[in-house]
Amino acid sequence: MNLAITGPTSGIGVETVKALASKFNRIFLLVRSEEKAVSLIAEYFSSYDKGKFVIIPCDLGDLTSVSKAADLIKDQVDSLHVLINNAGGIFPEGKLTVDKLEQTFQINHLGHFLLTIKLRPLLENAGEAKVINVSSEAHKAAKPKLKEINDISKYSSFPAYANAKLFNILFSKSLSEKYADKGIYSYSLHPGVVKTNFGGDFSGVFKILIKLAQPFMINAAQGAKTTVFLASTATASLESGAYFKKSKPANPSKTAASATLREKLWILSQDLVKEYL
Ligand SMILES: NC(=O)c1ccc[n+]([C@@H]2O[C@H](COP(=O)([O-])OP(=O)(O)OC[C@H]3O[C@@H](n4cnc5c(N)ncnc54)[C@H](OP(=O)(O)O)[C@@H]3O)[C@@H](O)[C@H]2O)c1
Repeated sequence: MNLAITGPTSGIGVETVKALASKFNRIFLLVRSEEKAVSLIAEYFSSYDKGKFVIIPCDLGDLTSVSKAADLIKDQVDSLHVLINNAGGIFPEGKLTVDKLEQTFQINHLGHFLLTIKLRPLLENAGEAKVINVSSEAHKAAKPKLKEINDISKYSSFPAYANAKLFNILFSKSLSEKYADKGIYSYSLHPGVVKTNFGGDFSGVFKILIKLAQPFMINAAQGAKTTVFLASTATASLESGAYFKKSKPANPSKTAASATLREKLWILSQDLVKEYL
């Protein structure tokens, strides 16, 4: 059994890998900092076989890097059983990536879209595979205007993040609709309000608010529980395309259930990554 995960170098991702390590033969750690990945393996996984953990450079804010990451995995295995799209973040400034796309949109959604689509043959080869997308309850504040999604002149950090987390849910549902008959199942989830490095790029009032909220937050191991539950539970017991909280199906927003919006997002995403497919 093979696993690939983005964002394994901090917070929820670290704890997810720790909880799942013994269940998989090969674990691909998709990271933007190879140095962090080397330290992670040395700190927690030195007792495992050397070949079990494979570090794959992958900056989700760079579509060429994402495409190469998928190719590197394809070079090493024929099948992938679980893909966890966990990396993400909220950013204080409106910035364009090297691909000239708004970074919150690209890092939380579009990079994962490209990664997943490129890994689709491996997921199909697994016979039964899961794609787990780490979303957030923040999606409930989303008011997406797809035509303006890369317009940073109107950027505001929380709305951009809320939209991106809505896209994680829409993407899960679309994947499930389009590929469940090929054995690819997909789930999205809210991990809880978790004490991690989330929001670490902020200064000022937002940073103070995060600090004040920290005593009420759950720890990263608790925050990883729903992801670990979805990765470990038989697909027959899970509703594909559903949104989960506290390891149970939960109702996302009305917007998250829109078939029109999820198809529009799919078409837009496909168009933005077409040169890599
Ligand atoms: N914490 C919460 O309360 C909370 C609540 C709801 C949802 N979530 C979601 O949970 C997921 C994990 O977040 P977390 O709380 O564990 O935050 P975190 O501690 O900041 O970890 C984020 C991870 O994403 C990686 N990452 C960021 N930008 C990247 C990029 N451009 N390319 C590749 N990897 C990148 C980071 O890599 P580096 O180590 O190199 O920085 C890190 O491994 C995110 O999707 C977040 O939206 C979190």
